[in-house]
Amino acid sequence: MARKKDDDDGKPESDSSGIETLRVLVVHGPNLNLLGEREPEVYGRTRLSDIDRELKQLGDELGIKVKTFQSNSEGDIVTRIQEARGKVDALLINPAGYTHTSVAIRDAILALEAPAIEVHLSNVHRREPFRHHSTIADIAVARIMGFGAPGYGLALRAVRGLVETARRQRA
Ligand code: DQA
Repeated sequence: MARKKDDDDGKPESDSSGIETLRVLVVHGPNLNLLGEREPEVYGRTRLSDIDRELKQLGDELGIKVKTFQSNSEGDIVTRIQEARGKVDALLINPAGYTHTSVAIRDAILALEAPAIEVHLSNVHRREPFRHHSTIADIAVARIMGFGAPGYGLALRAVRGLVETARRQRA
């Protein structure tokens, strides 16, 4: 199948070798725009723009079209996930502070009907007890935490296998 110009039409694309191009939305929650400056001893010195650029480069290597989005607002995150319905094969999400509180983001992920991978820079279980609870832990197909910025790339490398497993389970 020829590669289509419009990757938002909900239909699968593929590269010249016939491998399906996957579409992945990466969502970063509140305060992650300050990565590199904010508590670097916890979150590291890599900036969000570097994470996003590297994810897009890695996506090119893996046949994955990566779109990224960051917001400090819960409603904007919900809206962005809703907009992705039928247009993405998987979601990578670090809901940041909303991880521990947001029923609305959980509901938006359920409505997305695509596998979601929960990503955290820090190992939240080594931190304060209020960070141990995640409203999305049980609906995520996988969770990755404690690797710092490289965790996003590790998650992206795992996406194809997780998408295929989710499709087999639905079939
Ligand atoms: C975080 C962990 C959250 O508890 C915190 O509120 C964040 C970042 C992480 O990536 O380690 O903002 O999601």
